[in-house]
Amino acid sequence: MLPKRKPHYKFPLIPITLFATFFSFLFLYYYYAKRDSHFTEYSQTKSHTLQCSSQALALSEKFMWYAPHSGFSNQLSEFKHAVLIAGILNRTLVVPPILDHHAVALGSCPKFRVVEPNHIRFSVWDHVIQLLRGGRYVSIAEIIDISSLVSSSLVRVIDLRDFVSIWCGISLDLACNNDPKSQSSVSESLKQCGSLLSGFHGNIAKCIYAINEDCRTTVWTYHVDGHEDGMLDSFQPDEQLKQRKKISYVRRRRDVFRTLGPGSKVESASMLAFGSLFSAPYKGSESYIDIHESHQDQRFLSLMEKIKFLPYVPEVMNAGKEFAKTTIKAPFLCAQLRLLDGQFKNHHKATFDGLRQKLVSLMQKGHLPIHIFVMTDLQRNNWTGTYLGDLTGDAHNYKVHFLREDDQLVMQAAKKLTTAGYGQRFIPNSDSRIGKKYCSNQILPDVLLYVEQTVCSCASLGFIGTPGSTIAENIELMRKFGSCSS
Ligand SMILES: *[C@@H]1O[C@H](CO)[C@@H](O)[C@H](O)[C@H]1NC(C)=O
Ligand SMILES: *[C@@H]1O[C@H](CO)[C@@H](O)[C@H](O)[C@H]1NC(C)=O
Repeated sequence: MLPKRKPHYKFPLIPITLFATFFSFLFLYYYYAKRDSHFTEYSQTKSHTLQCSSQALALSEKFMWYAPHSGFSNQLSEFKHAVLIAGILNRTLVVPPILDHHAVALGSCPKFRVVEPNHIRFSVWDHVIQLLRGGRYVSIAEIIDISSLVSSSLVRVIDLRDFVSIWCGISLDLACNNDPKSQSSVSESLKQCGSLLSGFHGNIAKCIYAINEDCRTTVWTYHVDGHEDGMLDSFQPDEQLKQRKKISYVRRRRDVFRTLGPGSKVESASMLAFGSLFSAPYKGSESYIDIHESHQDQRFLSLMEKIKFLPYVPEVMNAGKEFAKTTIKAPFLCAQLRLLDGQFKNHHKATFDGLRQKLVSLMQKGHLPIHIFVMTDLQRNNWTGTYLGDLTGDAHNYKVHFLREDDQLVMQAAKKLTTAGYGQRFIPNSDSRIGKKYCSNQILPDVLLYVEQTVCSCASLGFIGTPGSTIAENIELMRKFGSCSS
């Protein structure tokens, strides 16, 4: 996005403005030309060769995947929606890895400016290959404990890598094979599988149905008789936006079961591909998914209940609890302070004020020093000069605790996680894979954020989070569900 410029009318500035504009256009031109060539490259994979392999078509099981994006909390909320929809449609959910923070972005639903579903699926596929190449692939099911969901048969899941090896007949692990001879044929097969799964060549009968509706046109609902199907949603682009952006979107409510379930034209497709599954409340409506407990179906209700809160895996939970018990060793307050990222960097004062007030009230109750566990994106050596610096400097009144990525406890948790291999735990048809490992370059996953949240869920003196932060919301949820004591 180009920054807003104040208009300059003074004579000497005109040439500069002209040049700047010229170069911006040049830059944009190259950017789009480059991006398009990237997509063209994929579209050129001969479309007649693009079809489901016979082994994919032979599977009686039907699958579903989607495009996760943005930060971790967002990816978690999309995952919950995915579990819910997969359960409703009785499709096996293809479980994705955790994507790097903001490696893939959606855009803005309220502004009707989002990345097309095909393109976002595509970016996700690209990023997945990058994660594999860099030895950084961690399934979201390695971090989030879905064992109770799976064991209760409310939903069936399969790891993305295993799905691809069965469905596309290619091992994703080959992506990190550096042998130049096999590399080009591997790249070609990966490219084909990626374009197929992204729906880049449209829908292919019995093989894939790729959803092209997004939050600009659709809100997914689920009702016993599908009575909302096709109705207009209460949130529509306003006239001003329509004129200014020349858009003609109309948002309709669509029943997910009627549109995509048994009896629909989608039923026979082996794979159902969603784009983003992100949704947020907006102006009395939901931006994309509006499914509530209005349905009577018992299975559905149990599923709704289960996805309200999905805990971290025991390796993460235990590390957090251990830190609270053996390092802090006292009742403590948790402060989660988002200070650097995007919308948060201009609100330091408000963020610190909440903490300050809480400390004043704790101070009145006595028991000094007050133990505080701090999780923040501001690095420790930058605390000086901030309120955090004041707190650490006042050892008489406060004892400040924090964790770092390279702390023993955090590293240990990461190691245990890698050994446990949750990603591989829930896989049907996987005999041929067990023990097979092509990627020897796997590096330890970064679990700091998850361990920190667990510590905060154990803070008995209370929790102060950054207003508007999704991390804070997740911690509140963990505390509400008593995840520290379970
Ligand atoms: C759900 O899918 C499974 C596996 O494809 C199938 O065996 C089962 O009968 C389906 N259940 C319903 C209620 O359609
Ligand atoms: C943190 O401190 C380093 C130097 O120690 C400095 O280069 C950096 O800009 C600081 N970052 C912030 C966000 O203040």
